[in-house]
Amino acid sequence: MVKQPKIAVVGAGGNVGAAVAQWSSLKELGELVLIDLKADVAEGKALDLKQCGPYQGFNAVYTATDDITALQGADVVVMTAGVPRKPGQSREELIGTNAKIVNGICENVKKHAPDSILIVVSNPLDAMVYVAKKVTGFPRERVIGSAGVLDSSRFRTNISLATKTSVEDIQAIVLGAHTDKDMVPVTSSAMVGNVPLNKLLSEAEIDDVVARTKRGGADLTKLIGTSAWLAPGAGTSLMVESIVRNQGRVLPCSVELQGEFGVTGAFVGVPVQLTNEGAKRVFEVELSSNEGEAFQKSVEANKELMKVADGVL
Ligand code: LAC
Repeated sequence: MVKQPKIAVVGAGGNVGAAVAQWSSLKELGELVLIDLKADVAEGKALDLKQCGPYQGFNAVYTATDDITALQGADVVVMTAGVPRKPGQSREELIGTNAKIVNGICENVKKHAPDSILIVVSNPLDAMVYVAKKVTGFPRERVIGSAGVLDSSRFRTNISLATKTSVEDIQAIVLGAHTDKDMVPVTSSAMVGNVPLNKLLSEAEIDDVVARTKRGGADLTKLIGTSAWLAPGAGTSLMVESIVRNQGRVLPCSVELQGEFGVTGAFVGVPVQLTNEGAKRVFEVELSSNEGEAFQKSVEANKELMKVADGVL
């Protein structure tokens, strides 16, 4: 029998987990195992999704459960468990609660899915990737944070709105920490249809795009009353796709730096090639001196959060 990839989503009763399931089902990426403390909610979200199949043209294959041992044999585990931020709250403020949740789940990932590739989505993202790597002991290739895909999607959207061009023709990435203050939208190499961004927008317009990108998550949280889920889910599902289909997409993801960008031992967003082995390779892009400084600030901020996480565990 040909085996489908097994994709486990932990926290699937929550908005982001359910959105990962939604986008992954649309592309029929594999067999979904939806795990949540509230088994009924996971089951309800899965059934609702399955009933989209006749009109959207997919067959959702899933199991919904509160049994964490269902992780057994998962090829990819997507960790979305944890509390989302509330309006006015920073992602960093969630560390006390979420570090404990992520810690507990990662012990189970290690036990029941020791060969899986773990994608972390819980916030504060980069610190949670650190916790996940520490608890599982997995090599860095198999512990990957999802945030750069989201921030870059917001960046491209804001560039699209400012230049009135299609998002699809914009190449631009956000590196560094997934925090409002320290993320690094890379403008120096951003392109619209192969034309450098600074040929199309003034410095003030570019600054505005950057500011909107950095506060993107906070703006949505204020508007909705909780943090966003559709774009976070779409970005994460893109990562899952690149892994299970061995596409080798180069996407900004948070991984442990091992000398790249002159940094060792911190977890921040960098361009990563994603294959069926996980984060196969880190791409070192050239940054302007301002961007390089901002990137180093991200690294320092992450190291501080790693210490806070250590204090919680
Ligand atoms: C955001 C959260 C999910 O940026 O981190 O929307």
